[in-house]
Amino acid sequence: IDRRGFLAAGAATVAGAGLATGARPPAADRPAADRPAAERPAALPFHGRHQQGILTPPQREASFVALDVTAASRAELADLLKTITERARFLTTGGTPPDPGLAAPPRDSGVLGPTVVPDALTVTLSAGASLFDERFGLASRRPARLRTMDEFPDDALRRDVCDGDLLLQVCAADRDAVTHAVREIARATRGAMQVRWRQDGFVSPPRPSGTPRNLMGFKDGTSNPDTGDAAEMARLVWAKAGDEPAWAADGSYHVVRVIRMLVEFWDRVNLHEQENMIGRRRDSGAPLTASAEFDDPHFENDPTGDVIQLDAHIRLANPRTKGTADQRMLRRAYNYDGGLDANGNLDMGLVFVAFNQDLDRQFVAVQKRLAGEPLTDYIQPFGGGYYFALPGARDSSDWLGRTMLA
Ligand code: HEM
Repeated sequence: IDRRGFLAAGAATVAGAGLATGARPPAADRPAADRPAAERPAALPFHGRHQQGILTPPQREASFVALDVTAASRAELADLLKTITERARFLTTGGTPPDPGLAAPPRDSGVLGPTVVPDALTVTLSAGASLFDERFGLASRRPARLRTMDEFPDDALRRDVCDGDLLLQVCAADRDAVTHAVREIARATRGAMQVRWRQDGFVSPPRPSGTPRNLMGFKDGTSNPDTGDAAEMARLVWAKAGDEPAWAADGSYHVVRVIRMLVEFWDRVNLHEQENMIGRRRDSGAPLTASAEFDDPHFENDPTGDVIQLDAHIRLANPRTKGTADQRMLRRAYNYDGGLDANGNLDMGLVFVAFNQDLDRQFVAVQKRLAGEPLTDYIQPFGGGYYFALPGARDSSDWLGRTMLA
């Protein structure tokens, strides 16, 4: 089921459940403990050509955890990657652990007693540029475009919350399953890695239906490539054979940008101005030139930007002109809420996540075009990194990174 199909199915359930009459919300919108066993989110396949958590429709909860590898040799790095794979396989599949240990969450949550329930958990492992330095003899294996994250003109990067040797993207239907997976992987890999930075995220339930909203109140994720179209995924998401080292086939450039939203400022901007900055209506998500969320904006009928201004976010991000179709990327963003900053301002924003076949042709080209857009006054990118999502583990004897180290 593709992402739009998944969202549409959710929307249909909401409508069918007749929320306005006070009926129970659909299972995915209820706390885990409140769901009958048959409605608990199932296991998502762990094995395959590609890793899970890329084309997977975004689950509600996520943690992004960047790791620095402290393993002393290539053999120890291989052990680390095998351990991460083995734990991820177990956690995402579910089952009875040999010893649930202290990290097992309470019974009334996504994990029941000694049995780990999968809770639609996905664990996606990606490599950062620093993994390919001199330590493990991997310099010749570095994906061609992988590097430390660029600092763009509107950025204020805090390097302590950027980059890292590895990135774990852990997503699940419920927070406790994510937290448990992060703790269990950390426990099993102690001594071979150190956590460098971590950012949690969440996806809001559809309000009232369709695509979930970001913390600026706009639907986010409307115009995304179709994950059900294998040819489109081969063109836009999966690394291109010939452009990359042979091992990297079936992987993808994984961009994470942690972007604070200056919500106090945003909330003082009137609706009309907000919609002009984005180029879409806040209520329906429809382009300002159209009437429904998934309508095409038809920029060609508005060449001077009378309806959707020329520097509106969607117009710069995807001008839909000749030659820009191959700049599209698969976005899989999460909201974050970090409480308050030291000055008492709300610390919240977007964990922008995108999967790209070619980092430069897609993410970097689009980010450069967004430079100076009106939205930049209301956002502040400060963390994240460029990573390369490793090819999938094919079967129960395979491990993530095997071909990279072979
Ligand atoms: C679309 C918000 C950052 C690339 C959108 C939409 C919204 C939005 C509301 C329209 C709905 C949709 O199609 O998803 C934001 C906010 C950001 C942000 C609030 C920062 C906090 C970025 C960044 C990039 C990006 C960093 C990439 C460099 C895109 C693209 C689209 C889009 C490619 C789809 C355009 C289309 O095909 O119509 N964004 N965005 N956005 N955004 Fe962003």
